Amino acid sequence: MCGIVGYAGFRNVSDFLLEGLHRLEYRGYDSAGIAVLSETGIDVRKRAGRVTELGMLIESQPIPGSVGIGHTRWATHGEPTDVNSHPHFGGSGEVAVVHNGVIENYDSLRKQLQQLGYVFRSQTDTEVAAHLLAHHLNEQIRLEGLGGSGEEGLDTDLCLKAVEATLARLKGTYGLAILFRECPGTLIAARCGSPLVIGIGENESFLASDASPLVGYTKEVVYLSDNEIAVLSQSALRIEHRHTGKVRPSIQTLSQVNSDIELNGFPHYMLKEIYEQPQTVENALRGRLDSEEATAVMGGLNLSAKELRRIDRIVLTACGTSWHAGLVGEYLLEEFARMPTEVEYASELRYRNPPMSDRTLVFAITQSGETADTLAAMRECKRKGHPTLAICNVVGSSIAREADGGIYLHAGPEIGVASTKAFTSQVTVLTLLALYFARMRHMSFPTGQRIIKQLRNMPEMIQKTLECHDKVREVADRYYHFNNYLYLGRLYNFPVALEGALKLKEISYIHAEGYPAAEMKHGPIALVDEQTPSVFIIPRGAIYSKVISNMEEIRARRGPVIAIACEGDLDVARIADEVIYVPEVEEYLQPLVCAIPLQLLSYHIALLRGCNVDRPRNLAKSVTVE
Ligand code: G6P
Repeated sequence: MCGIVGYAGFRNVSDFLLEGLHRLEYRGYDSAGIAVLSETGIDVRKRAGRVTELGMLIESQPIPGSVGIGHTRWATHGEPTDVNSHPHFGGSGEVAVVHNGVIENYDSLRKQLQQLGYVFRSQTDTEVAAHLLAHHLNEQIRLEGLGGSGEEGLDTDLCLKAVEATLARLKGTYGLAILFRECPGTLIAARCGSPLVIGIGENESFLASDASPLVGYTKEVVYLSDNEIAVLSQSALRIEHRHTGKVRPSIQTLSQVNSDIELNGFPHYMLKEIYEQPQTVENALRGRLDSEEATAVMGGLNLSAKELRRIDRIVLTACGTSWHAGLVGEYLLEEFARMPTEVEYASELRYRNPPMSDRTLVFAITQSGETADTLAAMRECKRKGHPTLAICNVVGSSIAREADGGIYLHAGPEIGVASTKAFTSQVTVLTLLALYFARMRHMSFPTGQRIIKQLRNMPEMIQKTLECHDKVREVADRYYHFNNYLYLGRLYNFPVALEGALKLKEISYIHAEGYPAAEMKHGPIALVDEQTPSVFIIPRGAIYSKVISNMEEIRARRGPVIAIACEGDLDVARIADEVIYVPEVEEYLQPLVCAIPLQLLSYHIALLRGCNVDRPRNLAKSVTVE
């Protein structure tokens, strides 16, 4: 979703802003722009389309200067047009603003501002903030009796007061970066619900909506909290809380390195991230397996063993792929730890009010740590007094910081919009969690040891699974032209079926539905014909023969069948049109291997259909609006 970059220092700011916007492209966007503050005023270049096109515009019409802001927009209010792109000017150009989030009361504010004579050029909610800033700035100038700015420009405090007065009138969420024409060398940022991170350099300050634009420029970062306002300049950083005053910045170290956000020879981030999975699963396991105690080590839960033993129910809440990982988690926690577990869509949980006792533990599962619905659901659970933990990838993200504790995935940045490595890491962490809870309750020492041994083996099993790539490519070649797909699996592979269908939908725009294989008889079977392939996830297991029967039912109706099966399974080969083999692992670990051919299948089908696999239409990597 929308991205922000900002800079105050000595570099040619357009170069930094453009590079930053490129690095934010993965979030999903439809237009881009920058504003540069110089002695002659504020200059803006913006346009609908890709950052590369903005780059061409800037090349033909350069804007020198060393303070500026930039934005990638994912349209919410108003279509993706040049005019609706950010930055937006306020008043008669005294302010320029970029904004992430949604200003919910923009309509009434717009009417009030129009009555005061402000002219709106765009349909965006953001322009309201821009005009309000100009309005309050002029109010402040009038109150302080200044007839305009002097040689030195405006006092920063005056601009800060205008920002505070503006924020007091906004309802909704925002991450804002603001330039004041008369305040040279300075940029102001404010946050409420939309993340912002500040980078501290030598004689320069950076701003971004996530850390990726800062990588390689600085390792010292400060994450802004809600209701904080930051004033950035070449030599100083000042942070104020809107209600409590001056804040001492808490400086953290950024661990990301350049190679994390580069393609490293892969044609797409999605493929790179699929191939990283042996390593990312290993990272999720590292330091968390205790063979001597036959349990998992969960350092960051911040709950004592006594408190954890009191828990009698777990609620997992998430969106999208993370929700699918949660479903696998439910099966694991119930089977291993005998712990009643529910998986809730965060967007529902935040407004539904299900009865939850004080013995309920909540986990928010999220790759980005910024998904608006997941954050809101988590806050709602915290408000009601439940211990609320996060299973999260992005260190320093809003959810990671607001949770009472949690477990990091350590998967490195996931750039491809369609989540791949985060899913397998989430499933790995949930397996560890199930083991941990189980060993606290009734699971025997030998069983715990057996699970640890199997988990240790998983990076190698995932590496072996990647050998199916050539076969997947062939299958994609033969099947990419179909327009409807069913994905079917049972038990641990039911969530995998949902995830496989979601992957195909997301990046190739093909209609696909995931279903529990047996449930297919109660509706979806009506869709089956020669034009509707079914992808069966059918590795060997307790109810393998039942899934074989479901497969026969599809074949009897002439539906093409693509099967994901265990190496050497000839029974499946006799029924299915295509078999993609994966290594045989314990049933509870099958999602970790079976997800991989499905990721690859959607990748190749999308490529063959000419789709942009890393940046699919309409989608965003981190959905920071409701
Ligand atoms: C978006 C992304 C999905 C992701 C979902 C939840 O829809 O496109 O890939 O699964 O958000 O994101 P989260 O960061 O909370 O896991």
